[in-house]
Amino acid sequence: MIVAVDGPTASGKGTIAKAIAARFGLPHLDTGLLYRAVGHQVALRGLDPDDERDALSACDFPDAMLSDPELRSEATGGLASRVSVHHAVRQALLERQRSFATQPGGAVLDGRDIGTVIAPDAEVKLFVTASVDARARRRFEEMRQSGRDTTLADISADLERRDERDRNRTEAPLKPARDAIVLDTSVLGREEAIAEAIRIVETAR
Ligand code: C5P
Repeated sequence: MIVAVDGPTASGKGTIAKAIAARFGLPHLDTGLLYRAVGHQVALRGLDPDDERDALSACDFPDAMLSDPELRSEATGGLASRVSVHHAVRQALLERQRSFATQPGGAVLDGRDIGTVIAPDAEVKLFVTASVDARARRRFEEMRQSGRDTTLADISADLERRDERDRNRTEAPLKPARDAIVLDTSVLGREEAIAEAIRIVETAR
């Protein structure tokens, strides 16, 4: 069984994907981390994230980079969103994601284009969404707990900028697959959202 979990920043898709993976005993890939690693590598090498060739040359990041806490920062999220508009970058990361998705026994992947591009034949497609306000508040809490100095207004502005870029790019824009089930987590608590997602997977598989 392949489970595709897509959605905008801080919608709860990562938490939901992890919970589905644990519940059904499936391996999980957070595909945003791959784009974040490219963004981070671009910054480390002093390259231009908006230049397709520069961004492509950063796709050879070492595997060890995927566990670098710096990948989780808002700044790296912004860079990830900028490098992810390039066709060559998406192609360079495609095979890695497809082979993860098609491993025997199945997998859960979360991202922006799993149900539309990476695994269009996934048995279950969830599109997890929430209002900008709910997402900004969650991200703000996360940042505060991890000791990062930021404001709700900054988070909200960053989030909208990133969503706008992800939705409007020509290559694999963020949008629900035609056969995706939309789960709005705006007014759901963490446990409620997880329970609802698991119910959807159980019904759909
Ligand atoms: O999900 P996360 O916030 O970690 O993703 C960082 C950025 O990587 C997103 O804003 C998006 O631009 C890009 N991304 C993508 N396709 C994916 C996953 C992430 O374009 N499958």
